[in-house]
Amino acid sequence: MSKILAIESSCDETAVAILAEGKLLANVISSQVDVHRKYGGVMPEVASRLHAENIAVCLKEAYEKSGLSARDMDAVAVTRGPGLIGCLHVGLQAAKTLALAHDLPLIPVHHLAGHIYANEYVGKLEFPLLAVVVSGGNTELVLMDAPMSFQVIGETKDDAVGECYDKVARILGLPYPGGLPIDQHAQKGKHTYDISEPLKGQKGYDFSYSGLKTAVSNLVNNLRMKGEEIRLDDMCRSFQDVATGMIVDRAKRAAREFGVRQVVLAGGVSANSDLRRRMEEEIRGEGIDLIIPPLWCTTDNAAMIAKVAEHLYEERLFAPLSVAVDPNWRIDKFREF
Ligand code: KG4
Repeated sequence: MSKILAIESSCDETAVAILAEGKLLANVISSQVDVHRKYGGVMPEVASRLHAENIAVCLKEAYEKSGLSARDMDAVAVTRGPGLIGCLHVGLQAAKTLALAHDLPLIPVHHLAGHIYANEYVGKLEFPLLAVVVSGGNTELVLMDAPMSFQVIGETKDDAVGECYDKVARILGLPYPGGLPIDQHAQKGKHTYDISEPLKGQKGYDFSYSGLKTAVSNLVNNLRMKGEEIRLDDMCRSFQDVATGMIVDRAKRAAREFGVRQVVLAGGVSANSDLRRRMEEEIRGEGIDLIIPPLWCTTDNAAMIAKVAEHLYEERLFAPLSVAVDPNWRIDKFREF
Protein backbone atom coordinates (compact mmCIF):
# COMPACT_ATOMS: atom_id res chain seq x y z
CA MET A 1 0.00 0.00 0.00
CA SER A 2 1.11 3.52 -0.71
CA LYS A 3 0.29 7.20 -0.45
CA ILE A 4 0.10 8.78 -3.90
CA LEU A 5 -0.39 12.39 -4.94
CA ALA A 6 -1.56 12.49 -8.58
CA ILE A 7 -1.84 15.34 -11.09
CA GLU A 8 -3.79 15.38 -14.39
CA SER A 9 -3.63 18.29 -16.86
CA SER A 10 -3.68 16.70 -20.33
CA CYS A 11 -6.62 18.67 -21.77
CA ASP A 12 -9.04 21.11 -20.15
CA GLU A 13 -9.33 19.83 -16.60
CA THR A 14 -6.77 20.63 -13.92
CA ALA A 15 -7.02 17.83 -11.38
CA VAL A 16 -5.27 16.66 -8.21
CA ALA A 17 -6.02 13.52 -6.21
CA ILE A 18 -4.65 11.91 -3.07
CA LEU A 19 -5.00 8.14 -2.80
CA ALA A 20 -3.64 6.88 0.53
CA GLU A 21 -3.59 3.21 1.57
CA GLY A 22 -6.31 2.47 -0.99
CA LYS A 23 -8.59 5.33 0.13
CA LEU A 24 -9.38 8.24 -2.16
CA LEU A 25 -9.02 11.16 0.28
CA ALA A 26 -9.21 14.00 -2.26
CA ASN A 27 -10.31 14.27 -5.88
CA VAL A 28 -10.20 17.92 -6.91
CA ILE A 29 -11.17 18.91 -10.47
CA SER A 30 -11.12 22.42 -11.90
CA SER A 31 -12.83 22.37 -15.30
CA GLN A 32 -12.14 25.01 -17.94
CA VAL A 33 -15.07 24.00 -20.11
CA ASP A 34 -16.97 27.29 -19.61
CA VAL A 35 -13.99 29.24 -20.99
CA HIS A 36 -13.51 26.99 -24.04
CA ARG A 37 -17.24 26.97 -24.85
CA LYS A 38 -16.83 30.52 -26.25
CA TYR A 39 -14.41 29.15 -28.87
CA GLY A 40 -16.43 26.03 -29.72
CA GLY A 41 -13.55 23.78 -28.65
CA VAL A 42 -10.43 23.63 -26.49
CA MET A 43 -7.96 26.47 -27.21
CA PRO A 44 -4.61 24.84 -26.35
CA GLU A 45 -2.76 28.06 -25.41
CA VAL A 46 -5.57 29.25 -23.17
CA ALA A 47 -5.80 25.79 -21.60
CA SER A 48 -2.08 25.75 -20.71
CA ARG A 49 -2.28 29.17 -19.09
CA LEU A 50 -5.32 28.21 -17.04
CA HIS A 51 -3.58 25.02 -15.84
CA ALA A 52 -0.65 27.18 -14.69
CA GLU A 53 -3.08 29.45 -12.80
CA ASN A 54 -5.12 26.62 -11.28
CA ILE A 55 -2.64 23.93 -10.33
CA ALA A 56 -1.50 25.46 -7.02
CA VAL A 57 -5.12 26.12 -6.00
CA CYS A 58 -6.07 22.49 -6.74
CA LEU A 59 -3.06 21.20 -4.77
CA LYS A 60 -3.99 23.37 -1.77
CA GLU A 61 -7.58 22.14 -1.87
CA ALA A 62 -6.45 18.50 -2.08
CA TYR A 63 -4.18 18.99 0.97
CA GLU A 64 -7.04 20.59 2.91
CA LYS A 65 -9.54 17.86 1.98
CA SER A 66 -7.19 14.98 2.78
CA GLY A 67 -5.49 16.46 5.83
CA LEU A 68 -2.22 15.39 4.21
CA SER A 69 0.41 17.24 2.23
CA ALA A 70 3.18 16.41 -0.23
CA ARG A 71 5.64 15.64 2.56
CA ASP A 72 3.37 12.76 3.73
CA MET A 73 3.40 11.05 0.31
CA ASP A 74 5.33 8.02 -0.96
CA ALA A 75 5.28 9.16 -4.62
CA VAL A 76 3.98 11.83 -6.98
CA ALA A 77 2.26 10.67 -10.17
CA VAL A 78 1.44 12.69 -13.26
CA THR A 79 -0.11 12.28 -16.70
CA ARG A 80 2.81 12.27 -19.18
CA GLY A 81 0.66 11.78 -22.32
CA PRO A 82 -1.19 11.60 -24.58
CA GLY A 83 -2.67 15.09 -24.56
CA LEU A 84 -1.99 18.71 -25.45
CA ILE A 85 1.73 19.38 -25.16
CA GLY A 86 1.57 22.70 -23.30
CA CYS A 87 -1.06 21.37 -20.90
CA LEU A 88 0.97 18.24 -20.13
CA HIS A 89 4.04 20.41 -19.46
CA VAL A 90 2.30 22.30 -16.66
CA GLY A 91 1.33 19.12 -14.81
CA LEU A 92 4.73 17.53 -15.28
CA GLN A 93 6.59 20.64 -14.08
CA ALA A 94 4.40 20.80 -10.97
CA ALA A 95 4.99 17.09 -10.30
CA LYS A 96 8.76 17.41 -10.80
CA THR A 97 8.87 20.39 -8.44
CA LEU A 98 7.06 18.42 -5.71
CA ALA A 99 9.26 15.36 -6.31
CA LEU A 100 12.41 17.45 -6.03
CA ALA A 101 11.28 19.49 -3.03
CA HIS A 102 10.10 16.49 -1.02
CA ASP A 103 12.49 13.85 -2.35
CA LEU A 104 9.69 11.71 -3.79
CA PRO A 105 9.81 9.24 -6.68
CA LEU A 106 8.09 10.47 -9.85
CA ILE A 107 5.64 8.14 -11.63
CA PRO A 108 4.64 9.04 -15.24
CA VAL A 109 1.18 7.69 -16.06
CA HIS A 110 -0.50 7.07 -19.43
CA HIS A 111 -3.79 8.99 -19.63
CA LEU A 112 -5.77 6.13 -21.23
CA ALA A 113 -4.45 3.61 -18.72
CA GLY A 114 -5.96 6.02 -16.21
CA HIS A 115 -9.36 5.96 -17.93
CA ILE A 116 -9.28 2.16 -17.93
CA TYR A 117 -8.16 1.86 -14.29
CA ALA A 118 -10.85 4.34 -13.16
CA ASN A 119 -13.02 1.23 -13.31
CA GLU A 120 -11.14 -0.19 -10.31
CA TYR A 121 -13.11 2.30 -8.19
CA VAL A 122 -16.22 0.39 -9.33
CA GLY A 123 -15.27 -3.28 -9.38
CA LYS A 124 -12.50 -5.83 -9.71
CA LEU A 125 -10.89 -6.05 -13.14
CA GLU A 126 -10.99 -9.59 -14.58
CA PHE A 127 -8.58 -10.75 -17.30
CA PRO A 128 -8.49 -11.22 -20.24
CA LEU A 129 -10.26 -7.90 -20.47
CA LEU A 130 -11.34 -5.66 -23.34
CA ALA A 131 -11.25 -1.92 -22.65
CA VAL A 132 -13.38 0.26 -24.89
CA VAL A 133 -11.75 3.69 -24.60
CA VAL A 134 -13.95 6.41 -26.07
CA SER A 135 -13.13 10.05 -25.33
CA GLY A 136 -12.68 13.48 -26.86
CA GLY A 137 -9.11 12.68 -27.88
CA ASN A 138 -9.05 8.89 -28.35
CA THR A 139 -11.02 5.93 -29.63
CA GLU A 140 -9.30 2.60 -28.99
CA LEU A 141 -10.02 -1.01 -28.25
CA VAL A 142 -7.38 -2.26 -25.82
CA LEU A 143 -6.91 -5.93 -24.99
CA MET A 144 -5.45 -6.73 -21.56
CA ASP A 145 -4.31 -10.30 -20.93
CA ALA A 146 -3.04 -9.38 -17.47
CA PRO A 147 -2.89 -6.32 -15.17
CA MET A 148 -0.89 -3.42 -16.65
CA SER A 149 -0.51 -5.10 -20.03
CA PHE A 150 -2.05 -3.24 -22.95
CA GLN A 151 -2.40 -4.27 -26.61
CA VAL A 152 -4.21 -1.94 -29.02
CA ILE A 153 -6.32 -4.08 -31.36
CA GLY A 154 -8.27 -1.26 -33.01
CA GLU A 155 -8.19 2.52 -33.12
CA THR A 156 -9.48 5.49 -35.03
CA LYS A 157 -7.74 6.28 -38.28
CA ASP A 158 -8.57 9.97 -37.91
CA ASP A 159 -10.84 11.77 -35.40
CA ALA A 160 -11.90 10.49 -31.99
CA VAL A 161 -15.59 9.78 -31.40
CA GLY A 162 -15.94 12.64 -28.86
CA GLU A 163 -14.29 15.02 -31.32
CA CYS A 164 -16.84 13.88 -33.92
CA TYR A 165 -19.70 14.61 -31.49
CA ASP A 166 -18.26 18.07 -30.83
CA LYS A 167 -17.86 18.84 -34.56
CA VAL A 168 -21.33 17.53 -35.48
CA ALA A 169 -22.79 19.64 -32.64
CA ARG A 170 -21.14 22.69 -34.14
CA ILE A 171 -22.59 21.88 -37.60
CA LEU A 172 -26.03 21.60 -35.99
CA GLY A 173 -25.62 24.82 -33.97
CA LEU A 174 -25.46 23.04 -30.60
CA PRO A 175 -23.11 24.15 -27.78
CA TYR A 176 -19.66 22.73 -26.91
CA PRO A 177 -19.01 20.07 -25.71
CA GLY A 178 -21.49 18.49 -28.09
CA GLY A 179 -21.85 14.99 -26.62
CA LEU A 180 -24.52 15.67 -24.04
CA PRO A 181 -26.77 17.99 -26.15
CA ILE A 182 -26.71 15.53 -29.08
CA ASP A 183 -27.47 12.65 -26.69
CA GLN A 184 -30.41 14.60 -25.22
CA HIS A 185 -31.89 15.53 -28.63
CA ALA A 186 -31.42 11.93 -29.81
CA GLN A 187 -33.66 10.68 -26.99
CA LYS A 188 -36.57 12.63 -28.53
CA GLY A 189 -35.89 11.72 -32.17
CA LYS A 190 -36.40 8.92 -34.70
CA HIS A 191 -33.81 7.39 -37.01
CA THR A 192 -35.13 8.90 -40.26
CA TYR A 193 -31.94 10.21 -41.92
CA ASP A 194 -29.69 7.91 -43.91
CA ILE A 195 -26.13 8.54 -42.70
CA SER A 196 -23.56 6.18 -44.17
CA GLU A 197 -21.28 4.35 -41.77
CA PRO A 198 -17.52 4.56 -42.51
CA LEU A 199 -15.62 1.22 -42.73
CA LYS A 200 -18.93 -0.66 -42.61
CA GLY A 201 -18.54 -4.42 -42.89
CA GLN A 202 -14.78 -4.43 -42.22
CA LYS A 203 -13.39 -7.44 -40.39
CA GLY A 204 -10.90 -5.51 -38.22
CA TYR A 205 -11.51 -3.19 -35.30
CA ASP A 206 -10.51 0.25 -36.58
CA PHE A 207 -12.76 3.31 -36.68
CA SER A 208 -13.15 6.40 -38.86
CA TYR A 209 -15.06 9.28 -37.30
CA SER A 210 -13.88 12.00 -39.65
CA GLY A 211 -15.82 10.20 -42.41
CA LEU A 212 -18.94 10.17 -40.23
CA LYS A 213 -18.64 13.90 -39.54
CA THR A 214 -18.29 14.57 -43.28
CA ALA A 215 -21.37 12.45 -44.01
CA VAL A 216 -23.44 14.56 -41.57
CA SER A 217 -21.95 17.79 -42.90
CA ASN A 218 -22.81 16.88 -46.53
CA LEU A 219 -26.32 15.82 -45.59
CA VAL A 220 -26.99 19.02 -43.63
CA ASN A 221 -25.55 21.22 -46.41
CA ASN A 222 -27.71 19.49 -49.04
CA LEU A 223 -30.84 19.92 -46.95
CA ARG A 224 -30.02 23.60 -46.32
CA MET A 225 -29.39 24.23 -50.04
CA LYS A 226 -32.76 22.69 -50.89
CA GLY A 227 -34.33 24.88 -48.22
CA GLU A 228 -35.57 21.84 -46.33
CA GLU A 229 -36.09 21.91 -42.57
CA ILE A 230 -33.56 19.96 -40.49
CA ARG A 231 -35.36 17.97 -37.84
CA LEU A 232 -32.78 18.31 -35.07
CA ASP A 233 -34.01 15.47 -32.84
CA ASP A 234 -34.17 13.03 -35.76
CA MET A 235 -30.75 14.11 -37.06
CA CYS A 236 -29.21 13.56 -33.62
CA ARG A 237 -30.90 10.17 -33.29
CA SER A 238 -29.74 9.06 -36.76
CA PHE A 239 -26.16 10.23 -36.09
CA GLN A 240 -26.03 8.72 -32.60
CA ASP A 241 -27.24 5.32 -33.82
CA VAL A 242 -24.34 5.16 -36.29
CA ALA A 243 -21.71 6.67 -33.94
CA THR A 244 -22.49 4.33 -31.04
CA GLY A 245 -23.32 1.35 -33.29
CA MET A 246 -19.74 1.36 -34.61
CA ILE A 247 -18.42 1.02 -31.05
CA VAL A 248 -20.86 -1.69 -29.97
CA ASP A 249 -20.25 -3.70 -33.16
CA ARG A 250 -16.45 -3.74 -32.70
CA ALA A 251 -16.62 -4.35 -28.95
CA LYS A 252 -18.95 -7.31 -29.39
CA ARG A 253 -16.90 -8.92 -32.18
CA ALA A 254 -13.59 -8.40 -30.34
CA ALA A 255 -14.98 -9.74 -27.05
CA ARG A 256 -16.05 -12.89 -28.87
CA GLU A 257 -12.88 -13.33 -30.91
CA PHE A 258 -10.51 -12.87 -27.97
CA GLY A 259 -12.70 -14.73 -25.49
CA VAL A 260 -12.51 -12.01 -22.83
CA ARG A 261 -14.02 -12.40 -19.36
CA GLN A 262 -14.82 -8.73 -18.96
CA VAL A 263 -15.45 -5.58 -20.99
CA VAL A 264 -14.94 -2.13 -19.45
CA LEU A 265 -16.04 1.21 -20.88
CA ALA A 266 -13.77 4.19 -20.37
CA GLY A 267 -13.50 7.88 -21.32
CA GLY A 268 -15.89 10.82 -21.58
CA VAL A 269 -18.12 9.33 -24.30
CA SER A 270 -18.98 6.40 -22.01
CA ALA A 271 -21.43 8.89 -20.47
CA ASN A 272 -23.56 8.39 -23.60
CA SER A 273 -26.95 6.96 -22.66
CA ASP A 274 -27.44 4.82 -25.79
CA LEU A 275 -23.88 3.48 -25.66
CA ARG A 276 -24.39 2.44 -22.03
CA ARG A 277 -27.74 0.80 -22.78
CA ARG A 278 -26.57 -0.98 -25.92
CA MET A 279 -23.40 -2.27 -24.26
CA GLU A 280 -25.57 -3.65 -21.42
CA GLU A 281 -27.81 -5.44 -23.94
CA GLU A 282 -25.16 -6.69 -26.34
CA ILE A 283 -22.23 -7.52 -24.02
CA ARG A 284 -24.12 -8.82 -21.01
CA GLY A 285 -26.33 -10.57 -23.56
CA GLU A 286 -23.23 -12.59 -24.53
CA GLY A 287 -22.73 -13.61 -20.89
CA ILE A 288 -19.63 -11.39 -20.52
CA ASP A 289 -19.08 -9.29 -17.39
CA LEU A 290 -19.34 -5.56 -18.06
CA ILE A 291 -18.23 -2.53 -16.03
CA ILE A 292 -19.74 0.80 -16.98
CA PRO A 293 -18.15 3.56 -14.92
CA PRO A 294 -20.32 6.03 -13.01
CA LEU A 295 -20.37 9.47 -14.58
CA TRP A 296 -17.97 10.97 -12.00
CA CYS A 297 -15.11 8.85 -13.31
CA THR A 298 -15.83 9.05 -17.05
CA THR A 299 -14.44 12.58 -17.43
CA ASP A 300 -10.80 13.55 -16.83
CA ASN A 301 -9.71 13.36 -13.19
CA ALA A 302 -6.58 12.60 -11.19
CA ALA A 303 -8.11 9.78 -9.13
CA MET A 304 -7.70 7.52 -12.16
CA ILE A 305 -4.05 8.58 -12.52
CA ALA A 306 -3.47 7.73 -8.84
CA LYS A 307 -5.03 4.29 -9.38
CA VAL A 308 -2.55 3.40 -12.13
CA ALA A 309 0.29 4.87 -10.06
CA GLU A 310 -0.63 2.56 -7.17
CA HIS A 311 0.22 -0.40 -9.45
CA LEU A 312 3.36 1.23 -10.85
CA TYR A 313 4.56 2.07 -7.33
CA GLU A 314 4.52 -1.66 -6.54
CA GLU A 315 6.73 -2.17 -9.64
CA ARG A 316 8.94 0.78 -8.65
CA LEU A 317 8.50 2.17 -12.17
CA PHE A 318 9.94 5.62 -11.43
CA ALA A 319 11.24 8.26 -13.87
CA PRO A 320 14.27 10.52 -13.62
CA LEU A 321 13.53 14.24 -13.26
CA SER A 322 14.77 14.71 -16.84
CA VAL A 323 11.64 12.92 -18.18
CA ALA A 324 9.65 14.89 -20.80
CA VAL A 325 5.98 14.80 -21.81
CA ASP A 326 4.88 12.79 -24.86
CA PRO A 327 1.70 14.12 -26.52
CA ASN A 328 1.48 10.95 -28.67
CA TRP A 329 2.53 8.35 -26.10
CA ARG A 330 1.17 4.93 -27.06
CA ILE A 331 -0.42 2.87 -24.33
CA ASP A 332 1.54 -0.26 -25.30
CA LYS A 333 4.76 1.73 -24.68
CA PHE A 334 3.75 3.01 -21.25
CA ARG A 335 6.92 1.64 -19.61
CA GLU A 336 9.12 3.64 -22.02
CA PHE A 337 9.94 7.22 -21.14
O1 KG4 B 1 -12.68 11.90 -21.65
P1 KG4 B 1 -13.07 13.31 -21.88
O2 KG4 B 1 -13.45 14.15 -20.69
O3 KG4 B 1 -11.95 14.13 -22.59
C1 KG4 B 1 -10.82 13.61 -23.13
O4 KG4 B 1 -9.88 13.26 -22.37
O5 KG4 B 1 -10.76 13.52 -24.38
O6 KG4 B 1 -14.25 13.30 -22.93
C2 KG4 B 1 -14.88 14.48 -23.38
C3 KG4 B 1 -15.72 14.11 -24.59
C4 KG4 B 1 -16.26 15.31 -25.33
O7 KG4 B 1 -15.94 15.18 -26.70
C5 KG4 B 1 -17.76 15.23 -25.10
O8 KG4 B 1 -18.53 15.76 -26.16
C6 KG4 B 1 -17.97 13.74 -24.93
O9 KG4 B 1 -16.84 13.31 -24.19
N1 KG4 B 1 -19.22 13.40 -24.22
C7 KG4 B 1 -20.21 12.68 -24.78
C8 KG4 B 1 -21.26 12.62 -23.82
N2 KG4 B 1 -20.84 13.32 -22.72
C9 KG4 B 1 -19.58 13.78 -22.99
N3 KG4 B 1 -20.30 12.10 -25.98
C10 KG4 B 1 -21.45 11.44 -26.27
N4 KG4 B 1 -22.50 11.37 -25.41
C11 KG4 B 1 -22.45 11.93 -24.19
N5 KG4 B 1 -23.48 11.84 -23.35
